Amino acid sequence: MSYREVYDRWLADPEGWWLDAARTIDWDRAPTRALSDTATGGHEWFADGLVNTCWNAVDRHVEAGHGARNAIIYDSPVTDTVAHITYADLRDRVARLAGALSARGIGIGDRVVIYMPMVPEALIAMLACARIGAIHSVVFGGFAAHELAVRIDDAQPRCILAGSCGIEPSRIVPYKPLLDAALAQSDHQPDFCVVLQRPQQPADLHPDRDVDWDAFQRDAAQAPCQPVPGNHPAYILYTSGTTGRPKGVVRPTGGHLVALDWTMANIYDMQAGEVFWAASDVGWVVGHSYICYAPLIHGCTTVVFEGKPVGTPDAGTFWRVMARHGVSAFFTAPTALRAVKREDPAGALAREHDLSSLRAVYLAGERADPDTVEWAERTLGVPVIDHWWQTETGYAIAANPRGLEPLPIKTGSPSVAMPGYDITILDEAGTPCPPGTLGAIALRLPLPPGTLPTLWNADERFHRAYLSRFPGYYETGDAGMLDEDGYLYVMARTDDVINVAGHRLSTGAMEEVLAAHPDVAECAVIGVSDPLKGQVPVGLLCLNTGCARPVEDIIADCIALVRDRIGPVAAFKRAVVVQRLPKTRSGKILRATMVRIADGETVTAPATIDDPAILEEIAAALCGPANPQS
Ligand code: COA
Ligand code: AMP
Repeated sequence: MSYREVYDRWLADPEGWWLDAARTIDWDRAPTRALSDTATGGHEWFADGLVNTCWNAVDRHVEAGHGARNAIIYDSPVTDTVAHITYADLRDRVARLAGALSARGIGIGDRVVIYMPMVPEALIAMLACARIGAIHSVVFGGFAAHELAVRIDDAQPRCILAGSCGIEPSRIVPYKPLLDAALAQSDHQPDFCVVLQRPQQPADLHPDRDVDWDAFQRDAAQAPCQPVPGNHPAYILYTSGTTGRPKGVVRPTGGHLVALDWTMANIYDMQAGEVFWAASDVGWVVGHSYICYAPLIHGCTTVVFEGKPVGTPDAGTFWRVMARHGVSAFFTAPTALRAVKREDPAGALAREHDLSSLRAVYLAGERADPDTVEWAERTLGVPVIDHWWQTETGYAIAANPRGLEPLPIKTGSPSVAMPGYDITILDEAGTPCPPGTLGAIALRLPLPPGTLPTLWNADERFHRAYLSRFPGYYETGDAGMLDEDGYLYVMARTDDVINVAGHRLSTGAMEEVLAAHPDVAECAVIGVSDPLKGQVPVGLLCLNTGCARPVEDIIADCIALVRDRIGPVAAFKRAVVVQRLPKTRSGKILRATMVRIADGETVTAPATIDDPAILEEIAAALCGPANPQS
């Protein structure tokens, strides 16, 4: 069927279309209605259905006779391990962990924080929560203890499942001391923690609070799948907003199952039994949707890769994994391919492997630059498909659906709106713009199944952040345009969110950290272009009058502070000291102007600037000789 036919069918009868899509899911009680209103003026899907995510992702495939099929392939170049877990094994391991959690009183609606590296146990933990209706919240390992503490205080977990350490190419990252430090900072305390002891760095266990992963479940009975209502939160995933307080995106169970299964067949063109690999991390939305849930719901094999695109051991590691495991579809962030391209520009390492199983590569997380896309197409000889989405949606808003009749690819565009999404470009006044005009990218309400119905414990913030600026629309925070054929072009963020190596970070959060330094009077953090990571943060610091400490020491403190408070993933490695920040006459810091200066553009002073002369000083600081810490 063509994309146009499918999209038009959805447009003609959205609710009927989604009820039809819901048939691929095993419901304990099938939903009679697709869409309903919530008490707080929002929307929810499949609310009167009863369903279990783990049943759909694991048990149903075993029941259908596919227990011997690989569910997970764990490939870890950093520990020199390759392991296979069949669907039958996975069911037993998940059911046992779920049973042990149930025995300790964890049940429907209880929160469980998961703080684990890229090991199969991270998926087992997520699925065990889903099995008993507990709501997991996975926290990425590259965040500092403070960020973990903020999430613990917001989610209020009864239990935390953690790994003793993560393994980065250059070092072992002890996770357990970070967890201990987070719990020392957080007001909320869990009843208990379960720690997966990794041989590379086992952790000290707190006798009254921590239990060993194996001992915890050794004698546990296997727990059955607990059906939950379709609108039950499957998980909370925190993502960066414009302030230091992350937003807890809530994922509803029924819509998540239906939408992800649809994307596997129609966007990624995957059949049950084939191998799907998303080279991301379970701490991000890509990891939730396409390392854990979607491939398993669809009966595919998923690859859990514990390594980096380069350095583990070399820039051919992606191609080795694809060839060895027969990967059909590969999903990554453009930054990962840029890292490979930088080390192997001729793509010679790809020619050392049999990549005949690979049908397409999918990119998301940041803008896919045409150079990288063309390089990947040349190197791999398959279509490289950009698609655009967000933590909030959980799956692609715009894509080129390979499971339908393929659409032409237009370089620089993630293609067209997926069924469920009505993408509109709005001007400042909220009026729809004609094709070719730049504006705010908005989605007409209601959002489709699986997208966020609200923010955890923050319904008012949800309405303020996403729904208040353009009544009747969801504001994506991205700016862009549509062309005459309905192809979308995503150009920039409209807020203070930056994208560093495919990781979404808040410059506002970094500013809050810098502002707390005793010598810093005022500061701004901007995202400047970087050939590898897309963007990197740079801090501009105004020091207190009379500050006598050497500038280099203060800059070093600031860099250490951001690493300590937010984490190494912020990649905050450069700050400069300036006398003043450029501002409008009403006092708003001109961050976008500073970004253009840092990116080497010719900048004319905005009409609203209070003192145009200041821009020269900013240019000298940002583009002059590198400061000692950079
Ligand atoms: N646990 C602990 N620390 C982590 C971590 C984790 N899970 N992940 C990253 N870090 C640390 C890194 O060790 C690094 O620390 P350093 O400053 O001491 O070197 C820092 O956080 C930044 O990490 P990273 O962003 O991975 O940068 P890098 O320079 O090590 O690697 C790339 C660059 C491009 C190879 C890498 O960013 C990459 O693979 N990106 C793909 C991102 C992705 O898949 N995003 C998901 C969206 S699809
Ligand atoms: P995250 O919530 O971490 O997935 O980040 C979502 C944001 O990343 C989007 O709002 C965009 O700003 C950016 N993004 C994701 N995918 C793309 C893409 N294909 N093209 C351009 N930007 C993207």
